[in-house]
Amino acid sequence: MNLKEKLESIGQSQLLRFESELSDAQKKALYEQIESIDFSVLDELKNRGKGLKRGKITPLEALDLDKINAKKDAYKETGVKALKDGKVGAVLLAGGMGTRLGSNDPKGMYNVGITRELFIFQCLINNLTDVVKEIGSYIHLFVMTSDLNYDSTTKFFKEKNYFGYPEEYVHFFKQEMAACCSYEGKILLERKDKVAVSPNGNGGWFLSMIRAGLMDVINKNGIEWLNVFAVDNVLQKICDPVFVGATIIEKKSIGAKVVRKNAPDEKLGVMCLEDGHPSIVEYYELTDEMRDEVDERGERVYNFGVILNYLFNVAETEKIVNNSLTYHVVEKKIPYIDDKGNEIKPEEPNGCKFEQLILDMIYMADTCLPFEVVREKEFAPIKNKTGVDSVESARELLQKNGVTL
Ligand code: UTP
Repeated sequence: MNLKEKLESIGQSQLLRFESELSDAQKKALYEQIESIDFSVLDELKNRGKGLKRGKITPLEALDLDKINAKKDAYKETGVKALKDGKVGAVLLAGGMGTRLGSNDPKGMYNVGITRELFIFQCLINNLTDVVKEIGSYIHLFVMTSDLNYDSTTKFFKEKNYFGYPEEYVHFFKQEMAACCSYEGKILLERKDKVAVSPNGNGGWFLSMIRAGLMDVINKNGIEWLNVFAVDNVLQKICDPVFVGATIIEKKSIGAKVVRKNAPDEKLGVMCLEDGHPSIVEYYELTDEMRDEVDERGERVYNFGVILNYLFNVAETEKIVNNSLTYHVVEKKIPYIDDKGNEIKPEEPNGCKFEQLILDMIYMADTCLPFEVVREKEFAPIKNKTGVDSVESARELLQKNGVTL
């Protein structure tokens, strides 16, 4: 079956609609792109808006601040030793599109400074450098980008001289892309010679690191733990020795930094057990009864929200990496060309992207330690321009924590 027949058989012949107008080179590029599409993700469309079927949800006890403080010295000593021995690396997830922030540049290039320049990437490097100073040695930093922002991200780091971090400790890699489709499941064209694609979510970070050959760096340097974190939390501690030590001492495959929710319906995924596996449940998936359930001290049991800062044990992660992760269907605004070849920039969501999520990796691990942090000191995400989780709210928190803006 040739490509045209194959596309016809799966109802995707629109991808070759402008074939006759293309040069040979454009045709070749388009054919190659179509050949690389994983059409099976389209099966997930049937789940759009339905939410995934969940197993039995039960509480997972967190290591709260009181418990952490009781063993802080021991945790810290173990964490500092692991860091000094080079056993911990950091992974910055920066492949997202940051559409809510509304800038065309990678989110990390956003300047949160007021009287001086202070870029999001710079805040993160500063936070990592705090630990480097404490332990007296550098930490390898792996930065995940996508096809769309690799060039601008790497150029920016170079231009800014890696914000004082040694270049040889910074390793960039690219994540995979997934095709975008209309609500009817037709894959969209971005141009006559190009399929509309988007980064495939943050869940594939480890596989993408392997594909990029970075296991060599991990093995050569004896890295046993990877602290994976989102680009947008400018206050987060990276490779925090107490967190590292606690995850090691408590013998868990994954550590997950969590904050106490500020309201039962706050939009944060909550750590729990699902059919006995560590898992994350969204606030809207909890019944009223579960939201109100309390322990013997009167504390709500589904009260610790994840902030996308996880410590993964490398050997354990290697065991689960080949399990296939579900693709989630996300409705987004997708620029495309219509039947007549007109470029359309939609104002409202017009189709679906497919994303794998890191939280689905947690479910595959045997154990996970929810580790509480003080939210005013470690959680200032920048998702939006104004309002909740915005540049404004993050600026306020940075200033409260003594950062000059
Ligand atoms: P978000 O869920 O906030 O998505 O990502 P986003 O793409 O950055 O922003 P919006 O939704 O378009 O406004 C959480 C973290 O996961 C990373 C992001 O860079 C951020 O650090 N991420 C997300 C990736 O690395 N790759 C992706 O495909 C998606």
